[in-house]
Amino acid sequence: MNNLEIDFSGKVIVVTGGSRGIGRAIVESFCGSNGRVYILDMDEKSARETVNEVTSRGGEVSFLPLDVSDHAMVRKVLGSILSEEGHVDVLVNDAGVSLPKPFAECTEKDWDFVVGINLKGTFNTSNVLFPSMIQRRYGKIVNIASIAGKLGGGFLGTSIYGASKAGVIGLTKGMAREGGPYGINVNAICPGVIRTAMGNAIPEEHQKVIIQGTPLRRYGEPYEIGNVVAFLASDLASHITGEIMDVDGGIVRD
Ligand SMILES: NC(=O)c1ccc[n+]([C@@H]2O[C@H](COP(=O)([O-])OP(=O)(O)OC[C@H]3O[C@@H](n4cnc5c(N)ncnc54)[C@H](O)[C@@H]3O)[C@@H](O)[C@H]2O)c1
Repeated sequence: MNNLEIDFSGKVIVVTGGSRGIGRAIVESFCGSNGRVYILDMDEKSARETVNEVTSRGGEVSFLPLDVSDHAMVRKVLGSILSEEGHVDVLVNDAGVSLPKPFAECTEKDWDFVVGINLKGTFNTSNVLFPSMIQRRYGKIVNIASIAGKLGGGFLGTSIYGASKAGVIGLTKGMAREGGPYGINVNAICPGVIRTAMGNAIPEEHQKVIIQGTPLRRYGEPYEIGNVVAFLASDLASHITGEIMDVDGGIVRD
């Protein structure tokens, strides 16, 4: 039997950081497959642009402002989606920040900022939605980690970033073990360098070195992450959980 269509009709999907960059490509990928998407983000201007464009193509997408590092706010906003829709089928934790700064100059505030969004933010949303997914015996969580979470950061002064993404990888594996018996799949994607505001912020000379060390010899495009997220969030990937998948042009080969 061949059943390779991805169709998210009737599915409620939450994408944090969905306003722009990789998150926007993830939103487009779900909306292109008939999903009902909520963007939770702090960048209202980009969110409005994304909502207008995706809606004009027939996609079903809404925006709710949210700082993922604020647990009380996450509980409130996700609570409002649960009361409106009755359930959330798919959660994608994409919201993230990078702070290229030499480790010797980093402060406690820097740590709290990066870890608060990248790792605690992933905890906050997953923690709020997990009980309802357990109750329904269904849920898909896809976390956007980074190859920096595997290799360690530090290349461009991103040690804290690497540590936060290593935490996301650990959390993904744990949630997959705990969620598996209840029909919840939890996976993570480790992008390499992707052409977004974050990827383009890398200085030109470093970009050249990175591309030389990438077997496919180019940056990734946001839609190349969107495609894999849609696959992992679909029932095509029903027997995959706890997987930490590199989508990096071949940089990490372990
Ligand atoms: N671009 C890359 O090369 C790359 C590589 C590896 C991993 N990643 C990861 O992919 C994800 C998306 O990155 P991107 O390149 O699209 O970056 P981006 O800066 O273009 O987008 C990040 C999104 O997250 C949102 N965001 C930031 N802080 C938030 C908060 N506190 N609450 C809610 N939303 C918040 C931003 O408003 C933005 O919409 C991040 O988790 C990033 O770490 C990116």
